[in-house]
Amino acid sequence: MTKPRLALIGTGGTIAGAASAASVSTDYKPASLSLAAVVDTVPELRQRYNIDVSQPMQLASYDVRPDHWLDLHAAVMQAVHNPHVVGIVITHGTDTLEETATFLHLSVDSDKPIVVVGAMRPATAYSADGPANLLDACSVAACPTARGRGTLVVMNGRIHSGLWVGKRHVSSVEAFDSPLAGAVGEVADQAVQWFRAAGRAPTVAWQTPSTWKTPAAWPRVDIAVAYAGVDETAMRAFVAAGAQGIVHAGLGNANTPTAYRAFIQSLPAQGVLVARCARFITGSVTRASVYADAQHGILTAGPLPPHKVRIIMLLGLAHGMDGAAIQDWIDRILLTA
Ligand code: SIN
Repeated sequence: MTKPRLALIGTGGTIAGAASAASVSTDYKPASLSLAAVVDTVPELRQRYNIDVSQPMQLASYDVRPDHWLDLHAAVMQAVHNPHVVGIVITHGTDTLEETATFLHLSVDSDKPIVVVGAMRPATAYSADGPANLLDACSVAACPTARGRGTLVVMNGRIHSGLWVGKRHVSSVEAFDSPLAGAVGEVADQAVQWFRAAGRAPTVAWQTPSTWKTPAAWPRVDIAVAYAGVDETAMRAFVAAGAQGIVHAGLGNANTPTAYRAFIQSLPAQGVLVARCARFITGSVTRASVYADAQHGILTAGPLPPHKVRIIMLLGLAHGMDGAAIQDWIDRILLTA
């Protein structure tokens, strides 16, 4: 029987990390081994699949910037356009894994399974979780029923939507979950079990399909975190630095100190897009009348956390969307949860 062909794209991270001893699991250097070397630690991979390995970058994911996403997007699209490739697996550091997965989920127009995978323990550790995670990720990427689900994340036997997943623990192998939305499936011993039907979010090109435009330069979009006693200082600094968008990571239901509210409401009229999100907690932020979001052109994104809303704003602004178009896109994305 012909083996399915998978494209494996390496970017670095702990899954390719090395420590000084097998007993060490937190003091190590990420991105030390090539993806080809990581693949060689799981001999079953080449027995089960034809594998194309590429490595467009090799870094810890805390060093990933939006420009790296463009290189990754190009590598993914090459695999998407290869008719022999049935699925794509990206190895990635876990610190910003959810941001890269969100970017791909909202920018790659393809039904082919795209799976982002990492590890919480370096490849050299007794407790290395990378080999099992990589095998699981390949099982999902090769699974015909994974098609049409957008970008997925596989960690510790769970399959998550790239849009909803987040890292919740600094070192445990059970570090990822999808608050409110829940995992979309599980994988064990190559058996994939789904918990719900496929739902792919509209990408940034939803209004004009297949018109992904590689941004010549990213707009600046910052996140201003609220806390007791916060004032306008950080937001003013972001505006002075040229921010075209600011995510307000607010208190509770995206609240803001009363004295700060008028300043935030004044920003859209000055050409700075603002989104109201909740800092560090889950729950759907409502377009509460006290903020008059619609009247002031302020965006809200239900349960999406600030760093994911920032990616939506980056993509939307880079594609020439105004605030109303980005809000419309967000509302359509939320329908696919
Ligand atoms: C990184 O994000 O590259 C370091 C942490 C990790 O991969 O777990």
